Amino acid sequence: MAGNVDIRSASAARGEAAITDFGPARAALADTYVGEDAVLTYARAQSARLGIRAIGPSGGACLRLVAAALDAKAVAEIGTGTGVSGVYLLRGMRPDGVLTTVDAEPVHQQYAREAYHAAGFASNRSRFIPGRALDVLPRLADGQYDLVFCDGDPAESQQYLAESLRLLRPGGMVCFEGVFQEGRLAEPDQHDPQTHAVRELVREVRESERLLPALLPVSDGLLCAVKR
Ligand SMILES: C[S@@+](CC[C@H](N)C(=O)[O-])C[C@H]1O[C@@H](n2cnc3c(N)ncnc32)[C@H](O)[C@@H]1O
Repeated sequence: MAGNVDIRSASAARGEAAITDFGPARAALADTYVGEDAVLTYARAQSARLGIRAIGPSGGACLRLVAAALDAKAVAEIGTGTGVSGVYLLRGMRPDGVLTTVDAEPVHQQYAREAYHAAGFASNRSRFIPGRALDVLPRLADGQYDLVFCDGDPAESQQYLAESLRLLRPGGMVCFEGVFQEGRLAEPDQHDPQTHAVRELVREVRESERLLPALLPVSDGLLCAVKR
């Protein structure tokens, strides 16, 4: 009997080692699985040049999946960047859907505009609003959005959540990119204001009775939740 237990334990240990060893390869597989075309490659290169962190390919594929599963007609995005996430969102949305995207930097939005155009989307498929998210979001209509994607200033995450709950229709979804904070989320000694704000966000989303959450280990951590 003891021998059997030993054999099972050794087997489990081998399994764990294999899974652990597979970690980085798993992320690479997820990132290369869908593949990115010239439009996304160019937009991603502009992000890198400007020092902006664009969503990873696996995270972008999840956004596209979510937008398609929701048959999204109206999506709000906080943090346009150079348009990587926006191209993924538009590719998942209904053909008549409109992406409303907010960014404090008009220059970033100009790159995104070019990316959407290069991807073949008519100009009436997107609405660019320059400005700080917490100034702009209160001007958007209650309950009219199928999906809100938050990728602006992580320190403002909890305010984005409050605004998202107001903007979303019941059954709509909110997604936050970058919640792993490049590993800082899981480091107990990290108490900087940004990490603290994201920790509070993750806790609030998990504990909210109004939300049904999942933390997806893609890109730098994509926290998604359905509004009940
Ligand atoms: C991480 S990048 C967004 C990347 C983009 N979502 C993508 O995946 O391609 C963050 C963007 O948020 C913008 N931003 C930062 N703080 C903001 C704020 N308070 N309000 C609006 N935009 C903000 C920055 O200018 C930057 O373009």
